[in-house]
Amino acid sequence: MDLIVTTAQQTVPSIIQQAKAIADKLAVPFIPRDNYSVAALKEKYAISELIVATTTGPVVHTATGEYFFHLSMAELRIKNLLNGNHDHMVTAMGLRSGMSVLDCTLGLATDAIVASFVIGENGVIIGLESSPVIALITGYGLQNFTVDSEPYITSALRHVKVKNVNYSEQLEALADGSFDVVYFDPMFRAPILKSSNVNPIRTLANMQPLTPEVISQACRVARQKVVVKEAAGSSEFSRLGMHTIVGGKYSRINYGIIDCKPQLAGGGQP
Ligand SMILES: C[S@@+](CC[C@H](N)C(=O)[O-])C[C@H]1O[C@@H](n2cnc3c(N)ncnc32)[C@H](O)[C@@H]1O
Repeated sequence: MDLIVTTAQQTVPSIIQQAKAIADKLAVPFIPRDNYSVAALKEKYAISELIVATTTGPVVHTATGEYFFHLSMAELRIKNLLNGNHDHMVTAMGLRSGMSVLDCTLGLATDAIVASFVIGENGVIIGLESSPVIALITGYGLQNFTVDSEPYITSALRHVKVKNVNYSEQLEALADGSFDVVYFDPMFRAPILKSSNVNPIRTLANMQPLTPEVISQACRVARQKVVVKEAAGSSEFSRLGMHTIVGGKYSRINYGIIDCKPQLAGGGQP
């Protein structure tokens, strides 16, 4: 991997330990900071990506920006739900307390945190992420980031379990009807560049397009629905055989839904 791990300039022994642990986990070199700037380290080691361990968690510097764990729109979306407003993703998934969700494209975990809040303590949510760096940074944030003023958001974070695996591999290994909902939010074919929250991970992210075969596996694994998020008007929906499309009238994002329940009609509960 074209990557090194270092620490913030002002460091303490625990941060050096954190940086070394990250380097070990990713099997990449740990390089002491030695007062070099990020740009100087990138040049010296001829790398395009570098992780900096800091007191607030790891930050990856990529060619398209910096990614560190943050709530992005999750906090606002949860507060909107608490105020009785509607969230298109939650409606598309048909989420309710106690449901189980497999988020196949975890990324920054914004969608997973909102889903986790809705399904609550009795629900199950697992997020799959094939990029080891994204899985590490998102996983660190979900386990360590705290919202003191809103403990229910902290609980929603802790409840998301992260697996660093490709969804194709994971879906094949899962039994029929393992989750109520299987969800995908692939990197958009035509990126909406203004949605800058995903920009910093663009060079790290898996850009593999979804295939009809993966959707069919997902339908086998889902007890209720497979949901795919894509740009409004995307031809991906028809390519993937999704004909029920929902989303806000003026939204740039739509959700394709496949109702998988009929597939279980003869088999009952898995
Ligand atoms: C658009 S982002 C998801 C954003 C996420 N829904 C959120 O709310 O933050 C897509 C993510 O899915 C990951 N991904 C793409 N293909 C994957 C695959 N085959 N297996 C696992 N993860 C994948 C990418 O690496 C990227 O991090």
